[in-house]
Amino acid sequence: MPEPTNTPSISDASTPSAGRIYDYMLGGHHNFEIDRQAADGLIKQVPEMPQWVRLIRWFLGAAVRSMIDDGFSKFLDFASGLPTVDHIHQIAPKGTKVVYSDVDPVTVAYAQEIVKGLPEVAFVLGDARRPESILDLDVVKRLFGSDHRLAIGFNGIAWFLEDKDIMHALDVLYDWASPGAKLFICDTNVNVVTSSTDKIAEFYKQVRQPVFLRSVEQFESLFGRWTIQEPGVQPLEAWLPIDRSGIEKTTRRTGGNLIGAILEKR
Ligand SMILES: C[S@@+](CC[C@H](N)C(=O)[O-])C[C@H]1O[C@@H](n2cnc3c(N)ncnc32)[C@H](O)[C@@H]1O
Repeated sequence: MPEPTNTPSISDASTPSAGRIYDYMLGGHHNFEIDRQAADGLIKQVPEMPQWVRLIRWFLGAAVRSMIDDGFSKFLDFASGLPTVDHIHQIAPKGTKVVYSDVDPVTVAYAQEIVKGLPEVAFVLGDARRPESILDLDVVKRLFGSDHRLAIGFNGIAWFLEDKDIMHALDVLYDWASPGAKLFICDTNVNVVTSSTDKIAEFYKQVRQPVFLRSVEQFESLFGRWTIQEPGVQPLEAWLPIDRSGIEKTTRRTGGNLIGAILEKR
């Protein structure tokens, strides 16, 4: 398996990490001074950034709730970040089986502390670009068995990955999943260019986690054999219940430059 090349040593507290910057902007506490300084610098340039980050997590919540309503009781999540602030096992009913994963060893170490004592929840180290290494783990086999009609999270990560890696990951997951499985995913939308887009791209280049910006059409072209569920690719705010606190403000500010979709294996 090729080693990750675009990910700095995230356990190195002298280098800001995208995952910990995200945690800080979500209001979490698993970050270092170097991350807070970097995040504050970005927020100064792009004041709406914390709202966008919350929007990404809200989309995850909306997708998970809709899948629970559809009867899903198994979730496999990639690039999970910390399982705090409205993450899957906090939303799902007791007994739901959840396997989280992340490439950042510090995130994984903290996260394993958070979920220890929950026998149906696991957090493993793994690269979203190579899901096959996660699918082979004993804990995945133990929790999910051979019925892979489950819900898959691929959220808040597409913009850090090259097209070929996303296509590979979705292809491997399609082959592994059982018919009826669903996958939620979000991305940026360069059809909506804001003055912030360049600033964000430059910021992540500086912290050595370059972002890949796509149009809606490019995003859709990555899905391979997965079918896009109605109502198709939508701005993230369109997935949210309208009574979510702060949503009106967020909607005005994003204008649709973050988009998400739910895919299905038919
Ligand atoms: C923006 S957070 C997304 C968190 C969560 N999925 C959500 O939607 O709220 C991005 C996470 O991706 C992780 N990450 C970055 N590159 C990755 C990769 N190649 N494989 C797995 N995780 C990765 C980071 O460590 C970080 O925790």
